[in-house]
Amino acid sequence: LFETVELAPRDPILGLNEQYNADERSGKVNLGVGVYYDDQGRIPILQAVQKAEQAMMSTAAARSYLPIEGINTYNLGAQTLLLGADSPVIAEGRALTVQSLGGTGALKIGADFLQQLLPQSKVYISDPSWENHRALFERAGFTVDTYTYYDAATHGLNFEGMIASLRTMPAQSIVVLHACCHNPTGVDPSMEQWAQIAELIKERQLVPFLDIAYQGFGDGLDEDASVVRLFAKLGLSMFISSSFSKSFSLYGERVGALTLVTSSKDETSRVLSQVKRVIRTNYSNPPTHGGKVVATVLNSPELFQTWATELAGMRERIRDMRAQLVAKLKEHGVAQNFDFVLQQRGMFSYSGLTAEQVERLRQEHGIYAVSSGRICVAALNSQNIDVVAKAIAQVLK
Ligand code: LMR
Repeated sequence: LFETVELAPRDPILGLNEQYNADERSGKVNLGVGVYYDDQGRIPILQAVQKAEQAMMSTAAARSYLPIEGINTYNLGAQTLLLGADSPVIAEGRALTVQSLGGTGALKIGADFLQQLLPQSKVYISDPSWENHRALFERAGFTVDTYTYYDAATHGLNFEGMIASLRTMPAQSIVVLHACCHNPTGVDPSMEQWAQIAELIKERQLVPFLDIAYQGFGDGLDEDASVVRLFAKLGLSMFISSSFSKSFSLYGERVGALTLVTSSKDETSRVLSQVKRVIRTNYSNPPTHGGKVVATVLNSPELFQTWATELAGMRERIRDMRAQLVAKLKEHGVAQNFDFVLQQRGMFSYSGLTAEQVERLRQEHGIYAVSSGRICVAALNSQNIDVVAKAIAQVLK
C-alpha cells in the first residue's frame, strides 16, 4: 500500500521546531516559528488566562459536544473584536463567525467552502506570503498564484506593483490579504493605500480573504482591525480568518475563528448552514477548553482590560527588541543599514538574510530562522540579543 509513498519535505516553519528541539547545543536560539517569548525566554501564561481558568475550574462543567459552530459567546467576542462593537454589519445580521482550530483551521474551512462556491477561481497570495497559504489553498483544490507585494530593494511595499497585479485578476478571483502585521515581511500598506486596494477589489469584483493572526501586535486591538472595518464599510462580502494563538499565548489550544461578512441576514443564515456542513465533515465540532478561556476573557470587562494591557506589554517589548537589534548590529560592525527593522510591524522581521546565511546561522551558531530570512523578533530577549546580533554580523561578512 505505502511502497510508492515519497518522503515529504519538512514543513518550512514547524519543521524548524523539530530540528531545534533535536539540537543539543546549550546556547541555541529559535527565531523560526511565530511565537512570542517573554524577556526570560518563556512562553508567557497571561494573567487574564489564568484568572479565566480559575473561574472555570471553580464551576467545572461537564464536557459535552460543543455546537458545530462552537461557543456562541466566543464567536460573538471574536466578531466584535474584528468589526467593532458599533458595527452596522453586526447590527444588520450580516456577519457570522465560527470557532476554528486556530487561524489555519479558519483558512481551511474558508478554503473548503470557497471551493464549493467558486471552484473555477484562482487564489492569489502576496509575494512572499506565509509559507502555508499556498499549500493550504492548493490542497483545497485551487490553483494559487501570487500578486506583487514586497520590494527587496527598499525593504518596503511595491504598491504600484500590487495595484497593477490586482488589475490583472479576473472577477471573482480570491485575494488573500494580511490585514495587519504581514507575515513574513512585517511590511503593511498605509491606510491610504489600503483604501485604494479596497476600492479596486470592489471595482473588479474580487473576493477578499483577510487573514489576521496578529491583531494587537501592530498598533493596538482596534487600530489593527482598521482594514477589516474599512472593507466592511465598503459593503464587501468577505472571508476573515483570525487567531488568538499569539494574542492570548494559547498556541496549543487552537483558538481561531472564521468570520464571513455577507450582504443580508437571509444570506447569513444560508451561508452559516453550509459552513457548518464543512466543519461537520472535517472535525465535527471544536474543542472546549481554549474557546471557553477566550470567551470568558472577551466577555468580562475586567479580564478584557487585563488582557489588553498584557498584549500592549508584548507589543512594546517587541518594539524594544527591534530597536535593540538595530543598535547591536551597528555595535558589531554591520555596515548595511538595518533601520528598516524599526518600520516593520508584528512579530517578524524580513531580515534580508539569504538562505545560505540562514543556514550558516543554524550550523555555526545554533540560531534558527526561516530560510526566507524571516526572523521572529518576539523571540529575542536581553539574554540572547547580543549573541544573535554578533552571529548575524559574522554571517554578513
Ligand atoms: C508562523 O508563521 O510561524 C506561525 O503562524 C506559525 C505557523 O503555523 O506557521
